[in-house]
Amino acid sequence: MAMVQRRLQIINPNFVSLAVALSLIISISSAKVFFEERFDDGWESRWVKSDWKKDENMAGEWNYTSGKWNGDPNDKGIQTSEDYRFYAISAEFPEFSNKDKTLVFQFTVKHEQKLDCGGGYMKLLSGEVDQKKFGGDTPYSIMFGPDICGYSTKKVHAILTYNDTNHLIKKEVPCETDQLSHVYTFVLRPDATYSILIDNVEKQSGSLYSDWDLLPPKKIKDPEAKKPEDWDDKEFIPDPEDKKPEGYDDIPKEIPDSDAKKPEDWDDEEDGEWTAPTIPNPEYKGEWKPKKIKNPNYKGKWKAPMIDNPDFKDDPDLYVFPNLKYVGVELWQVKSGTLFDNVLVSDDPEYAKKLAEETWGKQKDAEKAAFEEAEKNTEEETKDDAVDSDAEDGDSDDAENDDADDEFKPDSAEDDAHVEYY
Ligand SMILES: *[C@@H]1O[C@H](CO)[C@@H](O)[C@H](O)[C@H]1NC(C)=O
Ligand SMILES: *[C@@H]1O[C@H](CO)[C@@H](O)[C@H](O)[C@H]1NC(C)=O
Repeated sequence: MAMVQRRLQIINPNFVSLAVALSLIISISSAKVFFEERFDDGWESRWVKSDWKKDENMAGEWNYTSGKWNGDPNDKGIQTSEDYRFYAISAEFPEFSNKDKTLVFQFTVKHEQKLDCGGGYMKLLSGEVDQKKFGGDTPYSIMFGPDICGYSTKKVHAILTYNDTNHLIKKEVPCETDQLSHVYTFVLRPDATYSILIDNVEKQSGSLYSDWDLLPPKKIKDPEAKKPEDWDDKEFIPDPEDKKPEGYDDIPKEIPDSDAKKPEDWDDEEDGEWTAPTIPNPEYKGEWKPKKIKNPNYKGKWKAPMIDNPDFKDDPDLYVFPNLKYVGVELWQVKSGTLFDNVLVSDDPEYAKKLAEETWGKQKDAEKAAFEEAEKNTEEETKDDAVDSDAEDGDSDDAENDDADDEFKPDSAEDDAHVEYY
């Protein structure tokens, strides 16, 4: 595989001054590409389709295509093509460790279906993997990319596996939700910082220490600490000056209803002596309580002091994945149509940025135009269908009115769907 592990070279330095060329060589020539897949001819020899879910007839087929709308019909990728199916495919690259290196994981993904629930993420795997058996249970090192489900989940996953446990990023990173191609980039640096980019724009960044719970916390509340006996944490106390008014307890809760009258047909002998029904007493104010005042001795809420966590042991290799060896897609899709392209595993964010510009960046405007054209055509088809079915009704009397109605039908149907979803 010539594309793997290739070193970039300045191809034509004649056009740039020597100084610029030198600085470019210094900044670019060290770029290492561990894996790059643009899904040109021959891609099938580099990727292994898993047999996962095949015997249950639940393994979906990949379509090698540029999709229904694109910026270049000759630039193909792989697209999920069957609804309600599992998808698993992977490619191997020469094993490497990202120790002392920046790790860049990037790919383009387009959800041509209006994705309402499904993933568009990829995985990096380590060690030895039986690619024919690659599936949902296969351990992975990094899972990264968009995930959409209903209105609540529209996020970029960044799951790191540490000590055999998958850890989700704690920060919310919204993903793109339209039907166009987007480039997702994950950058992990040897200083344990990371960045997440969408379409070459940084959307999130921070540290592995703070944004994932990979290690136990550095500081904990001192479990030995106790609240001092004389610690007054009552913010308000009953006012010692406040006294119960005299006669307060003599006010009855209920009083006889003075408006009630003995019924005319009341028979004292048969019905017993008549007494007026009772009603709540408007004078009654409930049990007396002294009013509250600010406690002059209030010391605030007691908090245990923080101490160094004895279980915390720093790991200077927190960011290191020592045996990265495969890239894969493993998905469940209710509605198919997700197209992957331009997969990159590298050590150079600048190289990744250039690749994104050369692929997604060059094509995005044409793709958007093609998408809008396709949308317009579907709208017209829907309209034509509506008029056709009208004609079939043979209802010529108020055909004009019907036409008007039908024009609004697609919209109102959509509105209904929205209401139901919420
Ligand atoms: C593959 O994608 C193309 C473009 O969207 C489409 O025309 C074709 O029907 C798809 N093939 C399959 C088998 O889904
Ligand atoms: C690794 O996981 C095991 C089992 O869950 C745990 O006992 C151990 O403390 C963990 N080590 C680190 C460094 O997190």
